Amino acid sequence: MTIHIGAQPGEIAETVLLPGDPYRAKWAAENFLTDVTCINEVRGMLGFTGTWNGNRVTIHGSGMGMPSLSIYVNELIRDYGAKTLIRIGSCGAMQESVGIRDVILAMTASSLSTPSSGMFKELNFAPCADYSLLRAAADAAAAKGTPTHVGGIYSSDVFYDERPDLNEQMTRHGILGVEMEAAELYNLAARYGCRALAVLTVSDHLLTHESLPSDQREKSFGDMVEIALHSAFA
Ligand code: HPA
Repeated sequence: MTIHIGAQPGEIAETVLLPGDPYRAKWAAENFLTDVTCINEVRGMLGFTGTWNGNRVTIHGSGMGMPSLSIYVNELIRDYGAKTLIRIGSCGAMQESVGIRDVILAMTASSLSTPSSGMFKELNFAPCADYSLLRAAADAAAAKGTPTHVGGIYSSDVFYDERPDLNEQMTRHGILGVEMEAAELYNLAARYGCRALAVLTVSDHLLTHESLPSDQREKSFGDMVEIALHSAFA
């Protein structure tokens, strides 16, 4: 047990999928894994370990924002030996060419700050995805026929953003979408020699103001789980 995870040693797999929402972790485990055990309930942050195609997988909530994700990912890697960590979440699109429901594979994650900024001091470290996961996820998405974009995203500290000028610069520099977790996931994976990737579904559009209807959210989330699982075990 750690401060935030109640699992016993050995109850967490080397491959961990990380949705932000704990109930999404439950839904994904129930729909895609077999022999599922709930391994964490501390503070209502649910985690489940099961089997997919003969491979052990844990699906654990990260919470919203980088400080929350950082707590869970630090403990998953340092205390439970996680080696491959894939965020599955939603994002807001920042390019006209990106549509609602499209998948974005985050090759890099820009940020104003992350929980690691204090440690990096003046260094502008460039958080990036693991190439083997990225390539396998792109192949899996292509095989499913899911419209997919690969490139840079923005990991924001705020959902209610008051910096339209900054968003404009990011759109101008080709950033595909905005979410709130990937940059710190990539920082931690780099620090501890792990593989990481963020697979994101576009749930809303910052330029067109469209959003994904609630009845389509589950199907899109399921597509992401499949892409992430195929990527992890390619
Ligand atoms: N901003 C930040 N995170 C998000 C957004 C957004 O617009 N949409 C989904 N996650």
